[in-house]
Amino acid sequence: MEIIIKQDYDKMSKEAADFIVNYINNKPETLLCIAGGETPAGILKYLVEASNNKKVDFSKCKFVSLDEWVGLGRETRGSCKETLYNQFFDLIPITEEQICFFDGLASDLEKECKRVDKFISDNGNIDLIVLGIGMNGHIGFNEPNVPLDTYCHVVGLDPVTKDVSVKYFDKALDVKQGISLGMKTINEADTILLIANDLRKADIVKKTVEGEKMPEVPSSLLKDFPKLYFFLDEAAASKLTK
Ligand code: GLP
Repeated sequence: MEIIIKQDYDKMSKEAADFIVNYINNKPETLLCIAGGETPAGILKYLVEASNNKKVDFSKCKFVSLDEWVGLGRETRGSCKETLYNQFFDLIPITEEQICFFDGLASDLEKECKRVDKFISDNGNIDLIVLGIGMNGHIGFNEPNVPLDTYCHVVGLDPVTKDVSVKYFDKALDVKQGISLGMKTINEADTILLIANDLRKADIVKKTVEGEKMPEVPSSLLKDFPKLYFFLDEAAASKLTK
């Protein structure tokens, strides 16, 4: 694991966005996956800027979603789809055919999982995946005690995730399940970018980096991944001792 610590959220976001731009410039057909949530907002801003300034060309890239709240679609502010479309896809010159996003409103969720699995395998696995970390160490909706052998799947949400969910939505929503890429999908990617900022993430960052690998902390399971880059701001890194 390579750890990159920048002074603040903005500098961290810029550094991570530059990494992604370089990656795509080296491999224009990149299959890219970027988490929803708050953490990637700065990266998305810089990726849009790079696209506007012709520093990167997304025209040959494909995009797959990481996760979604079951029962929510783009209409709900704070859903993963709304976040990624409003902050990224709608702001860069790409077509809908390049994007495969979980439909949290799908009536047949198993079929939805198979559809996303197939998109990934048809495109030869994910090249670059950008993962936020939940307060409980979840990545995507791979919650504590996650099985390691899963591809796309539906999960019951952890109580911590339900509590934290209020920050995303205009009003509290009774979210119970998530649909997510699995640990196996993530482990088959070429390169992983983990991102975390703010003091409130300092404990989970420390557990991820310095704690034992354990299914109770899903982010810790990525520790030995060969090409893992962990981008942090100083606040999130402040409890690291090694
Ligand atoms: C959310 C999402 C993830 C996200 C993680 C961290 O619940 N399911 O996609 O990466 O938790 O979110 P945030 O960046 O808002 O802290």
